[in-house]
Amino acid sequence: MLWIKSLHIIFMVTWFAGLFYLPRLFVYHAMCEDIQGKERFKIMERKLYYGIMTPGAVLTIFFGTWLWLGYGYSGNWLYAKLVLVVVLISYHYYCGKFVAAFKTDSNRYGHIFYRWFNELPVLILFAVVFLVVIKPDL
Ligand code: HEM
Repeated sequence: MLWIKSLHIIFMVTWFAGLFYLPRLFVYHAMCEDIQGKERFKIMERKLYYGIMTPGAVLTIFFGTWLWLGYGYSGNWLYAKLVLVVVLISYHYYCGKFVAAFKTDSNRYGHIFYRWFNELPVLILFAVVFLVVIKPDL
């Protein structure tokens, strides 16, 4: 069980590396004016999203579900956590939409928007770690 929990945490860190850095790339990409720079951001965004973040998300959820169903965890802390995981998956999906928009040079948002967008995973990470470690009586 501790192996599975370790893998769950390792892939969660991989996922979050992308959740924190990809919107940061959007900030710089939205400010970028030269074609060469834009093309470089497109490659970085695609590789980060498809090569690192998405496998990280799938494996985090896979090992989390294994822990949950395989070892009989329950409690409102877990259900609250799952609600936040759904929010995180939606956030991930929107990141993919933004990657696609930048790819075709049809991004409609400025760097200030992406700076704010970048803050949401920080709040979710705090909330989820407090929930799983403290397991408050909700
Ligand atoms: C479908 C998604 C997920 C499920 C079903 C799930 C389920 C679980 C379960 C059952 C545990 C074991 C708790 C314990 O041993 O006390 C756990 C541990 C943990 N999960 Fe998840 N999880 C999911 C996604 C996530 C995400 C997205 C994060 C980060 C934001 C995360 C962070 C953690 C951490 C840090 C631990 C270790 C807690 C500890 O050992 O005290 N999990 N998860």
